[in-house]
Amino acid sequence: MADPTPENWRAADDYLAETLVGHDPALEAALTAQQAAGLPAIEVAPVSGKLLHLLVRISGARRILEIGTLGGYSTIWMAKAVGYGGRVVTIEAEPANAAVAQASIEAAGVSGSVEIRIGRAEDVLPALAAEDPFDLVFIDADKESNTLYLDWAARLGHPGTVVVLDNIGRSGDIVDADSPDSMVRGTRAALEMLGRDPRFEATALQTVGIKGWDGVAIAVVA
Ligand code: DHB
Ligand code: MG
Repeated sequence: MADPTPENWRAADDYLAETLVGHDPALEAALTAQQAAGLPAIEVAPVSGKLLHLLVRISGARRILEIGTLGGYSTIWMAKAVGYGGRVVTIEAEPANAAVAQASIEAAGVSGSVEIRIGRAEDVLPALAAEDPFDLVFIDADKESNTLYLDWAARLGHPGTVVVLDNIGRSGDIVDADSPDSMVRGTRAALEMLGRDPRFEATALQTVGIKGWDGVAIAVVA
C-alpha cells in the first residue's frame, strides 16, 4: 500500500483526473490565464470542478449562484453544465480577478450563461433577492463570512436548492475549537450552522488530493 503522503495523494488525484476528467482546452486556458495574472492557485481541483459540473446536471439546476469567482475556473465548469437558457451568477470582490475571469469565460464560449457581479458578496447578495431563486449555490470565498453566505443561500434558494461549501477540512484543523485561525473558525461556524439550522440538511466529505487535505460540505435547502 502506498504511504498516505501529500505526494501520493497528488499522484492518485492526477490519476483520477487523467482517467475521468480529461483535458478541456478552455478550462486549462483559464488556469494559465489566472496564473499569468498572478492570482493564487486556490481554484477547485479538476476532480472537484467535475463534481460541481455533475451536481448541476444531476440536480437539473438552471440558476446557479457562485460566491467567489477567482479566475472563473469553477464558474466555467458549472456554466458548461447549465446548458442553453441556464445562468451562473458569480460574485467577485476583486475587480482584477473579475477581469481575468470574464476574459476566460468569454474564451470558453460560455459568457452568454454567466454574469459576474463585482463587489463584496455581503453587499451584492441582498440585491439578488429581487431576482429568481437559485437552484444551486457554490460558496468558495472568504471563510470568515461562511455563515452569512449560508444564510443568503437559504434565503435565495428554495426547497431542494443544493448548497456546496468548499474547504471544510482545512488539514484537519476543523476539530480545534480553540483555533486562532479565522478561516478555521469561520468554517467551524458554518459546519455547525449546517448541522443545527433547520433550513438545511447536510453532510460533508473530507478529501485528499492535489490541494492537500481538505473537504466539501453538501447540503439541500429544506
Ligand atoms: C483557500 C481558499 C480556498 O477557496 C481554497 O480552495 C483553498 C484555500 C484559502 O484561502 O486558504
Ligand atoms: Mg475553495
